[in-house]
Amino acid sequence: MAKKGVDIKPARGKLGVLMPGLGAVSTTFIAGIEAIKKGLAKPIGSLTQMGTIRLGRRTEHRVPHIKEFVPLARLEDLVFAGWDVFEDNCYESALKAGVLERSLLEQLRGELEKIRPWPAAFDPYYVKKLNGRHVKRARDKFELAEQVIEDIQRFKAENSIDRMVMVWCGSTEIYLKPDEQVHDALKSFELGLKTNHRSIAPSMIYAYAALKLGIPFANGAPNLTVDIPAMLELAAQNNVPIAGKDLKTGQTLLKTIIAPGLKARLLGLSGWFSTNILGNRDGEVLDDPESFKTKEESKLSVLEYILQPHLYPELYSNFHHVVRINYYPPRGDNKEGWDNIDIFGWLGYPMQIKIDFLCRDSILAAPLVLDLVLFLDLAQRCGMRGIQEWLSFYFKSPMCAPELYPEHDLFIQLMKLKNTLRYLRGEELITHLGLEYYD
Ligand SMILES: NC(=O)c1ccc[n+]([C@@H]2O[C@H](COP(=O)([O-])OP(=O)(O)OC[C@H]3O[C@@H](n4cnc5c(N)ncnc54)[C@H](O)[C@@H]3O)[C@@H](O)[C@H]2O)c1
Repeated sequence: MAKKGVDIKPARGKLGVLMPGLGAVSTTFIAGIEAIKKGLAKPIGSLTQMGTIRLGRRTEHRVPHIKEFVPLARLEDLVFAGWDVFEDNCYESALKAGVLERSLLEQLRGELEKIRPWPAAFDPYYVKKLNGRHVKRARDKFELAEQVIEDIQRFKAENSIDRMVMVWCGSTEIYLKPDEQVHDALKSFELGLKTNHRSIAPSMIYAYAALKLGIPFANGAPNLTVDIPAMLELAAQNNVPIAGKDLKTGQTLLKTIIAPGLKARLLGLSGWFSTNILGNRDGEVLDDPESFKTKEESKLSVLEYILQPHLYPELYSNFHHVVRINYYPPRGDNKEGWDNIDIFGWLGYPMQIKIDFLCRDSILAAPLVLDLVLFLDLAQRCGMRGIQEWLSFYFKSPMCAPELYPEHDLFIQLMKLKNTLRYLRGEELITHLGLEYYD
């Protein structure tokens, strides 16, 4: 158990936030920060801004806010930049995304208009439903990576940026299987960049650029991106923390809240049918079967890992799990997700649970982007590198060491996150044993 804690460098100076993809999630995040800074709204849903952490024994009543317990960058110090295949500035893109009200965006217009995306490293082969023209031209993927690096260096110099974090907020790319020949080592990956290998998607080009520059990277989408050995090698080499993948919002968030409860009570599951209607650009991209497959893999895995059918064959070995996303424009970003859960209890008697979640996708995602930016920056200042499993809390498909299985249970994830913060500050880890109160 740690007593001294870890040496944490101070969060001095400006923190640049780099986002490939200036769409619904990223503009809702940026506009949100500007609104919060002006006192127009509150950072609801953000653990770093509103969360607390219990320290020591329950009788001590020490419960500071997380942002007071660990040194995080201040919202005032964040500076935003991004890339997109469309030229719209952040204000125009936020208006088109239709998440936030025009009346709010008007009050932030000056700040948002200043954020203009750089041309994207893009190839429609990887996102079939997009055809934007604001894209980089290059001889090969290596040169594209060099152009991304130049964008970042210019941004850093022009804005006197101290540190940076990159979060992929771009569209979901088509499903790619790990390709041993290209993905398994940094050397072969770099060769693949130079030979324009098909197994290197644009998201990997941005991630490569970030890691090369020592910039922490989080993947908000389910694409492979940094979840390949070559990127782990680069992250280790340059001491960079990484995290992913696919922000855990909406239906999967609820799934990882409810499934641990069913398992805790040993209630059986015979089926879980999940369907969504969604009308934003993300929904349109996911209407393509190849992009949907990437998302489907990410959404399907959570129940298997939480319910552990190999340990509970009578309860969980034969459940049907179906996930559908239907593109339905009238709803815009205001998704509706239905779940029908067929469970069984004592003596096998069947029961049903129905959920109708009228959620707002980007409203749920924006605070996660903020927390990831601040925690990844903290991780880097603590000297942590490679996969940050303690940030699993934020992801549908948490990255973890190759010999481990991912932890999906939201409550275990939260405990892991908070215990990591306690460890960093040299506080006792909390086990919830509690026998000491009754001795
Ligand atoms: N909103 C959520 O709750 C949620 C949850 C989990 C994951 N995600 C993922 O986050 C990502 C963003 O979601 P969104 O709702 O903002 O989608 P969006 O379609 O509004 O925004 C994505 C943007 O990325 C741009 N883009 C695509 N490829 C690019 C590239 N190579 N370089 C630069 N820009 C590129 C698109 O033009 C678009 O503007 C999607 O992959 C989505 O699946 C969202």
